[in-house]
Amino acid sequence: MESPVTVVILAAGLGTRMKSRQAKVLHRAGGKSLVEPVVDTALRLAPPERVFVVVGYQADEVRKTVATPGIGFIVQAEQKGTGHAVMVGREALEPLGGHLVVFYGDGPLLRAETLRSLIRAHTASDSGGALLAAHMSNPTGYGRVIRDARGRAIEVVEQKAATPEQLAIHEANMGIYCFRSDLFWKHVDQLRPDNPPKEYYLTDMVKILAAAGHAMEILKIADPQEVMGINDRLELASVDGIFRERKVMALMLAGVTIEKPETVTIDADVQIGMDTVVEPFAQILGRTTIGENCRIGAGAIVKDSELADQVELGPFTMVATSRLERGVHCGPFARLRMENHVAEGAHIGNFVELKKTRMGAGAKANHLAYLGDSEIGAKVNIGAGTITCNYDGVAKHATKIGDGAFVGSNSTLVAPIQIGEGAYLGAGSVITEPVPPDALALGRARQVVKEEWAKKRRSLGRREKTTP
Ligand code: UD1
Ligand code: CA
Repeated sequence: MESPVTVVILAAGLGTRMKSRQAKVLHRAGGKSLVEPVVDTALRLAPPERVFVVVGYQADEVRKTVATPGIGFIVQAEQKGTGHAVMVGREALEPLGGHLVVFYGDGPLLRAETLRSLIRAHTASDSGGALLAAHMSNPTGYGRVIRDARGRAIEVVEQKAATPEQLAIHEANMGIYCFRSDLFWKHVDQLRPDNPPKEYYLTDMVKILAAAGHAMEILKIADPQEVMGINDRLELASVDGIFRERKVMALMLAGVTIEKPETVTIDADVQIGMDTVVEPFAQILGRTTIGENCRIGAGAIVKDSELADQVELGPFTMVATSRLERGVHCGPFARLRMENHVAEGAHIGNFVELKKTRMGAGAKANHLAYLGDSEIGAKVNIGAGTITCNYDGVAKHATKIGDGAFVGSNSTLVAPIQIGEGAYLGAGSVITEPVPPDALALGRARQVVKEEWAKKRRSLGRREKTTP
């Protein structure tokens, strides 16, 4: 019978080289915190009850980011080394037995398949486990793996403690291990902080286990990129680039046209239907889903939104937490700020802002408008310059416009207000009273014309002022 696997993810450190006040694993790549894909990988190996995250720096924030129910957290209040990080979890981990798989929260490219190979590599009954190593042309900064005559690991020497001969070894320790749990806990008390930073090094377990007759197997990884840990923001950017590239490649292979794919930013969980075109520099973020045959214009930003088929976003349009039905057109330069619902075939034009607004089917607001907290019926026409005055300085109020109403240009709708179906508002009106269905409402001063007035003013010369 196969031994069960328990996974421990080390994520307690601040990550000094990030030069950040935020814990390293909370930095984002590919649209997710670094620790999220690492946890996903762990969950492919073990059930949540056997997945543990060691937290320390900003422990609460890290816990919140790892939202999967059932996952265990081990608090390492003081970061006294990679070995210490596992030791503090002894109470929870030791009784679980089986394989103890340990890796870091800052290596989001690691695949479950590689970890499975690592677990498989640890087959010999007397081996203490297996570790992942890579041949690196420049292994500076990594621990070096020392092998015995049979090719097993008997020691890992940290860069700072290595002799010149050991520094010449190109086989680097990746910090990813599978231990035999019983042997690990039997010998873990031999770890000593006898090194300059006074840390308990997990790597010292290799030597301790070898001395007890349980040298570790070595799995050599062909592509060290997969086990790349992020230490600074340059590495963060390159891992982000890898995630972005993978995502656009998967989408293109699934039938999405992406123009200049190296310029677009698409988060991991985004879904896009066939024959949709994504123009350069678009950003499609969060939990967005986009249907088929849509067009996402250059520089558009879409976040946590749902776009049905045939939706067209013009360049530089922003859409957040909104739902757009089939055939909707938005932009260029439109802003759907939050919680909008735009029904089938509606048009939102340039410099139009929507907030918590429902636009009915076929409704149009083609230019320069602010529509907030509004319910706008089907086939309503909103003229250029229309503003819903939804805020009185204290509270927000609603605007309701019935189906087929016509709102003349530059109308000011002082909420709370209701405009009946088929009503007509004259251009430039300030509307403060409800308008019944099919009525015409004018809320503006009557025009005054003074014959010859301008001419007289001119003849009076520059210094004197005219009073009309
Ligand atoms: C470690 C290895 C080194 C290996 C390298 C691979 C040790 C002593 N050395 O070095 O052989 O080549 O990884 O990347 O293990 N962490 C905690 N608590 C702690 C200390 C660290 O949770 O007390 C976490 C960190 O948040 C980090 C990870 O463990 O994610 C690795 O720690 P780090 O200090 O970066 O180890 P390295 O010096 O890189
Ligand atoms: Ca590191």
